Amino acid sequence: MIIAIDGPAASGKGTLARRLAEHFELRHLDTGLTYRAVAAALLAKGLPLGDEDVALEIARNLDLAHMDKSILSSHEIGEAASRIAVLGGLREELVALQKSFANTPPGAVLDGRDIGTVVCPDADVKLFVTASVEARARRRTDEMLSKGQEAEFSSVLDDLKRRDARDSERTVAPMRQAEDAHLLDTTEMDIESAFKTAVDIVSRARLS
Ligand code: CDP
Repeated sequence: MIIAIDGPAASGKGTLARRLAEHFELRHLDTGLTYRAVAAALLAKGLPLGDEDVALEIARNLDLAHMDKSILSSHEIGEAASRIAVLGGLREELVALQKSFANTPPGAVLDGRDIGTVVCPDADVKLFVTASVEARARRRTDEMLSKGQEAEFSSVLDDLKRRDARDSERTVAPMRQAEDAHLLDTTEMDIESAFKTAVDIVSRARLS
């Protein structure tokens, strides 16, 4: 059983993926963390983000079981991750790791930008989770403030728009909804109703 979840930043896809994995007793991989882990290692070494040879070397030694979300979730690392995510060779390496995670029994929930289109095109269920950019900026701002970080709505909004453009306009594996994905627009939904809707979609797909 493989559930593929894609969507833009702050759409709620990460929380949904984690909760669906718990509910259906599957493993979960936030593929954004793989890009973040490589970006963080480049930043830590003070190396240019465009250095694909070093990025590949880091990716080859990546241990999916030891990616620390609390360290990798910083704004700076997210920005760097979306910059290195345009490197085709690096993507191939990370996609191979992600595919092998997905194909290990009993299956998994993967979330990212290209899961339904590239990583798991044969997934049993695909969801494309989205929300208006304003709703996403509000959520991201509230989330940062609740963690005691500084955040200003207008700059978070600009940042999300920039990141959406970079992720959907890149030539390699751009973010897009797979043709057979269910669209889940959470603009007017809280996480509980988004979760219920997603469980319904997955349960129906499992029966068919
Ligand atoms: O949720 P948020 O966008 O803040 O971060 P993320 O999901 O951790 O992803 C960080 C960056 O990694 C994204 O902006 C994408 O450029 C890239 N990414 C990707 O290209 N493909 C994926 N499957 C996952 C993330």
